[in-house]
Amino acid sequence: MDSEGLRVEPDPACGAVHAPPQIQIDKVRVVFGGKGAPIIALKDISLNIAPGEFVSLLGPSGCGKSTLLNALAGFITPTGGSITVQGARVQNPGPDRGMVFQEYALFPWMTVEKNIAFGLEIKGTPPPEIKAKVDDLLGLLKLKEFRKSFPKDLSGGMRQRVAIARVLALDPPIMLMDEPFGALDSLTRRTLQDELLRLWQSLRKTVIFVTHSIDEAIYLGTRIVVLTYRPGTIKCDLQVGLPRPRDTSEAEFNRIRRELSLLVMEEQQRFTDADTSGH
Ligand SMILES: Nc1ncnc2c1ncn2[C@@H]1O[C@H](COP(=O)(O)OP(=O)(O)O)[C@@H](O)[C@H]1O
Ligand SMILES: [Mg+2]
Repeated sequence: MDSEGLRVEPDPACGAVHAPPQIQIDKVRVVFGGKGAPIIALKDISLNIAPGEFVSLLGPSGCGKSTLLNALAGFITPTGGSITVQGARVQNPGPDRGMVFQEYALFPWMTVEKNIAFGLEIKGTPPPEIKAKVDDLLGLLKLKEFRKSFPKDLSGGMRQRVAIARVLALDPPIMLMDEPFGALDSLTRRTLQDELLRLWQSLRKTVIFVTHSIDEAIYLGTRIVVLTYRPGTIKCDLQVGLPRPRDTSEAEFNRIRRELSLLVMEEQQRFTDADTSGH
């Protein structure tokens, strides 16, 4: 594993907290279901996110993490409130926001390099520029020897590298990631977490990273936002100033882990209660 890029002093977001927000989420509410029994997935969510922040969005299953990410991506429109990026209201998906899903979302009939080039081809980027960009990304994501492979011939970790490269090809300032490493074994997961940190630090992206893993949230985030179980509201919004690379066995890491475990367990319990009472 290449840990070169991880030897970075303060988190970029330390200075960025005072910068004007890049993303403004203002009293967002999302209700599903219309007439029958509506589900209030999100209620009164307000967050300002500065350029360069790495926000871990944490909470138990069903608390609205994906819903918030989908609203940020422009895949769904909030029932109430608003989301703006660089002052412009989010109404549709846009090139300023790239999304990485848990289930890779690659085109199975295309090779790795074709998958990465796809978005640029659609955009009409000149072929020499596409080639240079794809070569660059294959190097950055350590995929060079797999450029002619098809997704079915790759491991889960490799596929997720391709999915990340494909999003990076369009160079969005904001990366939205929905449990992207959730399906990977723990060793691959850790490697990809480190790779992602390296990319985030060198490319200066804003990342909003959904996870239900407390350790992953602390290992990655400059900030951790915990959501409550239905309706999803903000339970806690915590800055994490731990130096990198972070040591998961270190005292302060443990303290944050304990604090967050209690918060998440409370919400998990509300989920269990709602489940057993048939709601
Ligand atoms: N398209 C939808 N229609 C109806 N209910 C939905 C839809 N999407 C999500 N929900 C509900 O909204 C709540 C939040 O879901 P989700 O955002 O997927 O949670 P998470 O990603 O935190 O697991 C859940 O109760 C889920 O069942
Ligand atoms: Mg989800």
